[in-house]
Amino acid sequence: MTLDCLPVDLRRTKYCGDFRPADAGSRAVVMGWVSRRRDLGSLIFIDLRDRSGVLQVVVNRERFPEAHGKAEELRSEFVIAAEGAVVRRSPETYNPAIATGEVELVAERLYVLNDARTPPFPVEDEVNTSEETRLHYRFVDLRRPRMQSNIMLRHRIVLEIRRYMSEQGYFEIETPFLTRSTPEGARDYLVPSRVQPGCFYALPQSPQLFKQILMISGFDKYFQIVRCFRDEDLRADRQPEFTQLDVEMSFAQPELIFDLIEPLMQRVWATAGKEIKLPFPRLTYDEAMCKYGSDKPDLRLPPLHDVKHHFSDGERESLAIDPALPLIAFRVPGCGALSRKEREPFRDFAVERGIKCFDDMNNMEKKLPGPVAKVRKAVEGSADDLILLVGAPAAPGSQASAITKCRETAVFTAAGALRLFAGQKYADRHGLLRQDDYRFLWVVDFPMFEYDENESRYSAMHHPFTSPRDECLDLLETDPSAVKAKAYDLVLNGVELGGGSVRIHRKEVQRRIFRALGFSEEQARANFGFFLDALEYGTPPHGGIALGIDRLVMIAAGENNIREVIAFPKTARAVDLMCDAPTPVASAQLRELGLKTVTSYK
Ligand code: AMO
Repeated sequence: MTLDCLPVDLRRTKYCGDFRPADAGSRAVVMGWVSRRRDLGSLIFIDLRDRSGVLQVVVNRERFPEAHGKAEELRSEFVIAAEGAVVRRSPETYNPAIATGEVELVAERLYVLNDARTPPFPVEDEVNTSEETRLHYRFVDLRRPRMQSNIMLRHRIVLEIRRYMSEQGYFEIETPFLTRSTPEGARDYLVPSRVQPGCFYALPQSPQLFKQILMISGFDKYFQIVRCFRDEDLRADRQPEFTQLDVEMSFAQPELIFDLIEPLMQRVWATAGKEIKLPFPRLTYDEAMCKYGSDKPDLRLPPLHDVKHHFSDGERESLAIDPALPLIAFRVPGCGALSRKEREPFRDFAVERGIKCFDDMNNMEKKLPGPVAKVRKAVEGSADDLILLVGAPAAPGSQASAITKCRETAVFTAAGALRLFAGQKYADRHGLLRQDDYRFLWVVDFPMFEYDENESRYSAMHHPFTSPRDECLDLLETDPSAVKAKAYDLVLNGVELGGGSVRIHRKEVQRRIFRALGFSEEQARANFGFFLDALEYGTPPHGGIALGIDRLVMIAAGENNIREVIAFPKTARAVDLMCDAPTPVASAQLRELGLKTVTSYK
């Protein structure tokens, strides 16, 4: 078919989705994609779609034969412009499913601006196609109303964040992408330097050191909406490149950070049309681990209870569990009537995790009525609830003295994982884990270090620039595992939205931390010499936080995967399926960079 040019003087009146009954009687020009076409012979109806929604365009053969002739040839996803009169539909033809459902455009002229191949899947929300196909044809996928709405919500949220931070006196300052490695715990993406052969930039895992230097430079309050790059194993809430709201303030205290971020969250949620309550509750890291078995607890499910003391030694022995380790009970609301078969996945999950799960309290009650009654009381269980009891299987020959804190934590973590698994498994059935139940909290007082068993050394739980709590300074050399940090995470519904800390601002303390982390003086200088130098030139106490924008928008948009709120995300194997990156490059390009590739590298 012949395509039309877009006439230079043809101006769009407004977006398709914005027409209302008050527009009836006016003339209009609309432009967009053919979403659907129904050919009734003398009348052709076109659902015309743009980013705002859909408007019905009707073309009448008798009155506008030329436009009708063109409409006959239209297919899905053709790009057209239509000019005509807006009229009110007769009431029996109203379409309440769309905002423009009471009006239509009677097209007098049609311009067919482009044709289109048949899309690989229909441009509608309920697509029944693989994510690979969606990502391959992302240009089509992004046309779906849900994706359009997610990406537009993201824009509005980022705009609101910028407005708020600016109102609070923060300056947005850009920091380099071509920089050197900073330790945030993941692998770096490296960029070879052409002019300095053999040397590499690292893409920033976060602007951590730059923002601290901006405090040393006297900017006092900084923020940035910034891309970060981490080469790590990907999950539903991780991407190799992601966006942070990065914040730093001078003379910071954790309370000041909380006071800044809580109202911001309220504004962000209001932008998404949702209300949340302040202030957010706080839990220490130790409390979070004992009550939820996680440092990012999902508060929408009831907590864990260590009920070990309700069982005598003999009773614990009769359950074949390790008597020295916690015995944890929790309830799964509304799941009291699950059949034995429906409870089977809990037992399988427990076996995979190396723990023992008791899922039939009624049966246990026959043998141990006293303890089970106390368990029911401890978890505040009703007849409607399923109560699960989790312990570690008795290890033959194990002695109390050999039982480490590690194994205790492992039982809490496994119970916490089972708690979530059970909630997710039957969420639909019992209205657990509702997406619009926003349970924010701060987790505070993180340990400064975690022990890496494989490498037999301590690593920083947040990052090495985090300040230990003042009362823990003396433990740095003697008992690193007992040192708590001035670090905090913002958690929402089991997702870590953000993390931050008050920083070390004295060079001596920074040196001691590097030492505790196993850095020699030379290594510390080689990696962070510039920063150690900067610390010597009048560094104010300072602190900050970074929030994951992708995660924030994901939850505000009611999605379960950050790929749904990123226009061009990568797969779990860090591949961009649309532009097929990464790819090998020409040998000339490698030569210029002084690089050679080898196919297998050990
Ligand atoms: P952290 O490493 O905790 O802290 O990161 C802050 C937040 O960024 C988000 N995030 C991610 N989002 C998507 N994909 C990823 N791969 C990914 N990694 C992290 C999370 C996380 O909570 N420099 C410190 C902040 C500070 O101390 O101020 C930092 O980057 O939502």
